Amino acid sequence: MKRVGIITKGSSEMMRKSFENTFYKFMEKPEPRFDEDFGIYVHVPFCPTKCSFCPFYKELFAEELKEQYMEAICGEIEETDMEGQSRWVYFGGGSPNTLTIDELGRIVGCFESKVKIEEMGIELLPIFVSFEYLRGLKECGFTKISIGVESFSKEVICKTGRKTSTYEHLKQIIEFARSLGLWVNVDMMVGLPDQDSNIFRKDIQRIATIYPDQITIYPFMVIGRMKATPGIPADEQFQLIEEVGERLSKNGYGRKGVWTFTLGDDIYDSSRDELTEDYAGFGPSAFSTYGNWKVVNPEIEVYLKDFENGKKMGFVAKKSKASDEWRKFARMIYDLRYDNSFEFPFYIKSFISLMKLTGYIKGESLTEKGKIFAHKITKTVVESLPFPIQKPDCIENYNEYISYKNTILTSN
Ligand SMILES: C[S@@+](CC[C@H](N)C(=O)[O-])C[C@H]1O[C@@H](n2cnc3c(N)ncnc32)[C@H](O)[C@@H]1O
Repeated sequence: MKRVGIITKGSSEMMRKSFENTFYKFMEKPEPRFDEDFGIYVHVPFCPTKCSFCPFYKELFAEELKEQYMEAICGEIEETDMEGQSRWVYFGGGSPNTLTIDELGRIVGCFESKVKIEEMGIELLPIFVSFEYLRGLKECGFTKISIGVESFSKEVICKTGRKTSTYEHLKQIIEFARSLGLWVNVDMMVGLPDQDSNIFRKDIQRIATIYPDQITIYPFMVIGRMKATPGIPADEQFQLIEEVGERLSKNGYGRKGVWTFTLGDDIYDSSRDELTEDYAGFGPSAFSTYGNWKVVNPEIEVYLKDFENGKKMGFVAKKSKASDEWRKFARMIYDLRYDNSFEFPFYIKSFISLMKLTGYIKGESLTEKGKIFAHKITKTVVESLPFPIQKPDCIENYNEYISYKNTILTSN
């Protein structure tokens, strides 16, 4: 039992350190070029309310701000050197469905004038989803949708400041989306404030009766400064995911990753792809990785002003070999498998040997205790990722950024 703790603690710490050693510099962005093996992420930062559990960069929806955003993002796409085929395009947020179908179509059109798109997904806030909207998404070329249900409990959801949707509405839109040929993921959460284990068990029982193609269950993660605190301790959240996972398997759901359960072979998982692939990020706060760089766009006021002034500023960090290696390891563990064709450096190989010796890995799979390890590692990776906007400590010239921001926002 003691050795279990040492292995988990040791690898989490090493991983955390390799990420925490990433510092961003606010500067002109290195010129990107995307021409093979890449994905595209579009950040739509608008939401009707701010949910207390959500650490992602967002702004309250305002019509005028959205119009300025539309001009800037189309300009940003036009000015980016991209060609060939994009393996995926994901619209995330915020709530991308604060944009109308015409606005989404305009952004998709900007991409299509440069690249071919293999598959296209979008995150949706349920209260804004109608049959008409789903038809529009299909016509725009979307193939996958991801609906943020989180919990069916009205009390739990209202407490977070989020607007609720009823079970009936969710059932209707999921069934209609599937009948249109859209592939549907549903996000559920465990450990929201006031969401006890029985509420969570009931949430999963209910979502399983609607049969979305995929159910993703996120343990509550704490990133940067957040208003909410978890309602259930992390270890219990992991145990609950394991427990309901077994029940989901009886309903026909196979496990594709530590937090993903699907009816077939396909999956929707932007964060998994983003762990190891190069991608171009568009919109305020969007991440990109290319060449030797990790680049993050600034928040919306700076993003819009820079577009107006023809500037391309962002938070820039050099990729570090160690953090890339740990990400590759994390992705393998996230997939709950051991693949001996992966090349790892000595320090990661030693962990893998220890994991085999102490019964975390058996053959090509993770054992029961290996799965709990996978929860902890994945949560550590997400929580320790350096998000410059949410964690100003990881910007080495933060004062310069603030004075740049003040100058451009006060000038005409
Ligand atoms: C960008 S977010 C929200 C997308 C959309 N605006 C919505 O609210 O449905 C995507 C998903 O991240 C998950 N998420 C948000 N905050 C989280 C947190 N603190 N810990 C774990 N998962 C979280 C939620 O399941 C959410 O559906």
